[in-house]
Amino acid sequence: MIGTAADKPIHVLDLPQIYEKPSGTELLKALALLTLQPRSFGITADAVKGPAVQPEGVTRYLTSIISSPLSWLDTEELQEAIWDAASARLSERSGRTAMPAMSRIFSIPNSSGEEHTLTLHEPSLTSDNLGMKTWVSSYLLSRRLHKLLESPAELVPTSSTEPSTPNDKQLRALELGSGTGLVGLSFAALKGKSATIHLTDLPEIVPNLAHNASLNVELMKTTGASVTTGVLDWSVTPNPLPTAEERFDVILAADPLYSPLHPKLLVDTIGPWFSRGLDARVVTEMPLRAAYLPQVAEFRQRMLDLGLAVVEEGEEVGYDDWENSSGEALAVKCWWSVWGWSEKV
Ligand SMILES: C[S@@+](CC[C@H](N)C(=O)[O-])C[C@H]1O[C@@H](n2cnc3c(N)ncnc32)[C@H](O)[C@@H]1O
Repeated sequence: MIGTAADKPIHVLDLPQIYEKPSGTELLKALALLTLQPRSFGITADAVKGPAVQPEGVTRYLTSIISSPLSWLDTEELQEAIWDAASARLSERSGRTAMPAMSRIFSIPNSSGEEHTLTLHEPSLTSDNLGMKTWVSSYLLSRRLHKLLESPAELVPTSSTEPSTPNDKQLRALELGSGTGLVGLSFAALKGKSATIHLTDLPEIVPNLAHNASLNVELMKTTGASVTTGVLDWSVTPNPLPTAEERFDVILAADPLYSPLHPKLLVDTIGPWFSRGLDARVVTEMPLRAAYLPQVAEFRQRMLDLGLAVVEEGEEVGYDDWENSSGEALAVKCWWSVWGWSEKV
């Protein structure tokens, strides 16, 4: 009998074997048991649930199905469905970058201790489309946002003109490098009608970002949030430069540095788009991966050179949805920071 995910993991030899010519239904059930979800980003490693089937021999088992003609099955459709499922299970075992498309659910707390539930679509990944996946620092930042939004330096609109209608009082927020949009959509859910947010990324990422905004339209309606999406490429200098009214009171960015060019590009983008008000804030979180530490240091220096100062910062550990070769969750140390204009500027 096939066990369930709640049981102790079963051995692959307990699954129906190709030489036994199992029915299509039995094979599909076995393949469903072998589904690997990406690890949920836990705050602790314990949050991670183990597999239903022990990993030893699973690749060989899947290959035996893919290479079998499955000639005893009644229809070509059934054969195709089994080959497709076996291929998907094999892809999942090649790392998150090879995983098929999926929808993921994220819970984001608000200041009353309630949780907002966001649904995000993550298309199948290719190595040059990192924005198709949700990264651990964006999850940590989204869960921290409600505290940052309530911090003593309460974020307020920095419009230079006196507000004349309720809309004028809305905080204007911009997210850079939104990817799947977790941080920006969390911000929108938390701030509700007191803010508008524009989620941005490169042209190839924006269609999925827009799709994710529409997936969460019910939550946005309930909270009264206003979300737009669009292309904002950091390597393109805005021309003409944004006017005071077009600048943003809050700029958010999670995991934005993974090339030596990124610190300069990002800070050069923040400069023109960031409101000049003393209450305006840039909020970022990024992993402190060894290979990218020089870029994090350069980002910090460039922000200081721009005239910004750290208002609040800290480090925390999350668990990425990658795993090491032993199937253990990978701890990732992340740095979060809130920046405002230094009064000396
Ligand atoms: C590592 S991903 C992080 C995505 C998302 N913020 C998260 O944490 O889940 C980096 C994001 O930066 C975007 N990006 C990289 N270079 C960019 C550029 N020149 N202009 C705008 N976005 C860029 C990528 O497309 C990608 O979505």
